[in-house]
Amino acid sequence: MAAKEERVLRFPASEKVFHNINAITWYILAITGILAFFKLVPKSTAETLMQIHIWVGVIFTVNFIAFVLIAPDRFYIMLKNLLEWDKDSFAWFKNLGGYPRKFGIPFGAKETAPQGKYNAGQKIAYLLFIFMIFGLIVTGWVLYFLKHALGKELFLLMFYFHVWGSIITTLLVTFVHLPLSLINIEDFKAMWRFGSGYMPFEAAEHHSPKWVERDLVQIEPMKKQ
Ligand code: HEM
Repeated sequence: MAAKEERVLRFPASEKVFHNINAITWYILAITGILAFFKLVPKSTAETLMQIHIWVGVIFTVNFIAFVLIAPDRFYIMLKNLLEWDKDSFAWFKNLGGYPRKFGIPFGAKETAPQGKYNAGQKIAYLLFIFMIFGLIVTGWVLYFLKHALGKELFLLMFYFHVWGSIITTLLVTFVHLPLSLINIEDFKAMWRFGSGYMPFEAAEHHSPKWVERDLVQIEPMKKQ
């Protein structure tokens, strides 16, 4: 049995930096893009917003590439955790991880099948998010540098993917990912607090028992000199 103050490393620094720069730049890109696309501001303001959109797009792109190149091991482990599915992952859908019950809806069994680092819902969401980050980077720069080389159909396909894909993903992040991350407040603190990405052992064991059992190594506490 773990002592009360025992903690586990949920997010190493590289993942926190990548995620948090990604989240902040994402919202700047979404707001500047939406205001300009739907003509919610005067033309001259829209032009300035588009300049900001491009420069923040550079930071967004460099952040993703830097994460993959500087911490390829963490990127690999993240993808592995997201792509590995077993019968317990599928069993998560029988009660949607018990989340409906938190809102008073008695859906499925009370007990949730044990999950790994991410539950099945997170796996789907994060795979979609990573796909969208990659897709928006590619379509964004192709539309910026190569729009005259694209045929009309390809241009429209990329443009609508860029606009509507980003809007739909922003809605998912804002109304699903963000509130659920606040419900799992220990995850939230591990991701967003300045400094370490640790979380209490109990929280990890409750949400991610298979991760704790399979992937974590217990380190003896350092003795005080
Ligand atoms: C301010 C907005 C956001 C908040 C508060 C937030 C919060 C969080 C938290 C707390 C986690 C950890 C959940 C866990 O334990 O697995 C997480 C993971 C993740 N989030 Fe966000 N997030 C935000 C925006 C975004 C955006 C815009 C994206 C991309 C579209 C995104 C993609 C991801 C991904 C891929 C992970 C898994 C990362 C990893 O495990 O290293 N998030 N987020």
